[in-house]
Amino acid sequence: MKVSDAILSRHSMRVFHDRPVPREIIHRMLDVARYAASNGNLQPWKVYVTSGAARKRLSAAILKAIDTGEEGGPAEYDVYPRVFTEPFDQRRKKVGKDLYTLLNVPKGDAAGMAKQFKKNFEFFGAPVGMILTIDRGMGNGQWVDCGIFLDNLMLLAREEGLHTCPQAAFARYQKIVRRELHVPDNEIVLCGLAIGYADAAEVPNNLVTDRATVEDFSIFLES
Ligand SMILES: Cc1cc2nc3c(=O)[nH]c(=O)nc-3n(C[C@H](O)[C@H](O)[C@H](O)COP(=O)(O)O)c2cc1C
Repeated sequence: MKVSDAILSRHSMRVFHDRPVPREIIHRMLDVARYAASNGNLQPWKVYVTSGAARKRLSAAILKAIDTGEEGGPAEYDVYPRVFTEPFDQRRKKVGKDLYTLLNVPKGDAAGMAKQFKKNFEFFGAPVGMILTIDRGMGNGQWVDCGIFLDNLMLLAREEGLHTCPQAAFARYQKIVRRELHVPDNEIVLCGLAIGYADAAEVPNNLVTDRATVEDFSIFLES
């Protein structure tokens, strides 16, 4: 698979088949993803790979916390900007509107939105759910490194015929994640990553997300 094919065929999937993903495949992906560049070669990422009963236990614990009002957060980093300015505010609203339109959840349907939000914690039905963490002592630069590593995983998944969904939602329930996966205090829960087989034709997997043009974000300086 060409790198560009992997990039262009990667979309966040939010419905997965329950077909298991063999551990060897996940291991192979991690074994290649670890060659991600990192400043000073710090390799600051850490991964908890859950599947089977362990994945179900994590999902159940978070869903229970949501239902009982148990405090699972807050996230230990700004998952989003504290203040949304343009064009970012519009972009976020647009993708949310497009997703909920596909799902037939009308504006203001808090219950419908909550139901979809909760699906995050079942990794949208994916058989493998990863949790990425980073050492608390790392600087902003190392978060860049983790992003590169995360993207490696998502692109390698395409090579394996798999799809993914990165999920910051797990950072919002980091206390439950920490307890269930025995994540030590010196690590910050960055995000989850759902990995599995997905049918791109399924709603909402066929959500088409916009992108700004090259001209919108690039400045070419030549003289
Ligand atoms: C770090 C990160 C965290 C994300 N967290 C969530 C999440 O918690 N739940 C979700 O449904 N999508 C999540 N997404 C997916 C984004 O909504 C998605 O990447 C964006 O809308 C672009 O769509 P695409 O991935 O299909 O290209 C996340 C993406 C990234 C990169």
